[in-house]
Amino acid sequence: MRKKSIRDIDLQDKAVILRVDFNVPLDENRNITDDTRIKAALPTIKYALANSVGKLILMSHLGRPKGKIKEELRLDPIAQKLEELLGEPIEKLNDCIGDEVKKQVKSSQKRVILLENLRFHPEEEKNDPNFAKELASLAQIYVNDAFGTAHRAHASTEGIAHFLPAVAGFLLEKEINYLGKALEDPKKPFVVILGGAKVSDKIEVVENLLKKADKIIIGGGMAYTFLKAQGKEIGKSKLEEDKIGIAKEILLKAQKNNVQILLPSDNICVKEIKSDAEITVTGEDIPADLIAVDIGPKTIENFKQALSDAKTIVWNGPMGIFEIDKFSNGSKQIAEFLANLDATTIIGGGDTAAAVAKFKLEDKMTHISTGGGASLEFLEGKVLPGIAALQDK
Ligand code: 3PG
Repeated sequence: MRKKSIRDIDLQDKAVILRVDFNVPLDENRNITDDTRIKAALPTIKYALANSVGKLILMSHLGRPKGKIKEELRLDPIAQKLEELLGEPIEKLNDCIGDEVKKQVKSSQKRVILLENLRFHPEEEKNDPNFAKELASLAQIYVNDAFGTAHRAHASTEGIAHFLPAVAGFLLEKEINYLGKALEDPKKPFVVILGGAKVSDKIEVVENLLKKADKIIIGGGMAYTFLKAQGKEIGKSKLEEDKIGIAKEILLKAQKNNVQILLPSDNICVKEIKSDAEITVTGEDIPADLIAVDIGPKTIENFKQALSDAKTIVWNGPMGIFEIDKFSNGSKQIAEFLANLDATTIIGGGDTAAAVAKFKLEDKMTHISTGGGASLEFLEGKVLPGIAALQDK
């Protein structure tokens, strides 16, 4: 990694302000349903505590409160979970800037302080320099470990880096190393699996990976715009009419670049998307009244065959509506196949990470990104502002 990490800076006696991505899912009773992101920040938190006698100030957003205080988006459940995981008490504050916060940070007897949801202030998302300066005034060193939010140029991810020595935490470093190596110097054959509902979300990823991958496997809802572009009948399956042209261009470009693109050759279809729907397995062409919800058995075999000699695999986007058990077989079979492959397997965050977790295969993958949007933008080849703002080595 070309950016300085927390290892490259002297923390002794310095207060550290650490941006983490604790934007975790909560149920209706505000119980955390997936604490992966909190656990993923622990190595940096523990390192900072072991190497500094100063305070450690943590900050994060939760949800999208749009610049207003939303009681249900306060960080208290996260403070509680973190206390449990870290095994030490945490001072949770009710705001993130201002004189009261400064006083509380100074007077607290606890080593770890968690500020309130940054997005209660509209200045956070506007990357307001005064707001960033206020956050910076709480410490002497800024560490960014919030890979999931690194694609946002916000005050706590970008602006603050202009006021303090700014370095990466271990999670950010790990994400950059895995995703960066896959893009810059992958062990070949390099196979990319793309899925998810929309082609529009993945166009830039496909464009970027056409220059790097040996094969691109496409499943999920996005596959049907490609099949339509090839002149296939797709019934009532997901279609982005205005993207058919781009899909055609991508297929042509792939041919030119010698990149094999694999699409579903059979499909699991239903008349209505509901958990007890009756299933029909169709061939390439889908009857007019049916919707494809998963890849079929022949496709699964084709995809496995294409993956069998891969040495690097990046998977972003499920193969079907995996949230419904009946339509999760394609994603499950692919996940299981990757789990047993002798290859570097990198799973994009968001839905793909959730699918792998549903099949309890997290431990079998080389790396599961904690960033949904961030990993997508990284794969698009974009510079992420939260990374760009950090000090070079
Ligand atoms: C995420 O969950 O993808 C990150 O925390 C970023 O959240 P955002 O999309 O609301 O900026």
